[in-house]
Amino acid sequence: MTGSTLTNDEIDRLLEAAKGALANAHSPYSGLCVGAALLARDGSIHAGCNVESASYGLTICAERSAVFRAVSDGIRGFRAVVITTDRDGALMPCGACRQVLHEHAPDLEVISIGADGERVDTTIAALLPRAIGESDIKGEA
Ligand code: THU
Repeated sequence: MTGSTLTNDEIDRLLEAAKGALANAHSPYSGLCVGAALLARDGSIHAGCNVESASYGLTICAERSAVFRAVSDGIRGFRAVVITTDRDGALMPCGACRQVLHEHAPDLEVISIGADGERVDTTIAALLPRAIGESDIKGEA
């Protein structure tokens, strides 16, 4: 469709997983339900949803839920993430999620697909240029 290296079958499977997670979103405050599914380098898929808190700042987005879930399951290295919501339009990851996604997968492809089918294909490198990373902290940059 637009430069993704994923097959249509991989994208379909990621979208299905993201929609499955979206159905579990806990968003009583914003009402916005988000699902994200990561394709790991080993071919496995790991999904997450947004989970809101009454202390708003504690809310976690779907993208970080997916990363933390995968990492907790011992998975490292990701090729792509598919993000979807229950609203029209392709939602792009927030700044916090861009940082976390970049740290775990600097070459990540990002595909966002809205409820109306609008699709945006991009990369985490494009969404977060010159991201701070491990090498900056260790003084290796
Ligand atoms: N949200 C996500 O899950 N991912 C994003 O990329 C942006 C926002 C969630 C957080 C919150 O539960 C709701 O959407 C409104 O910001």
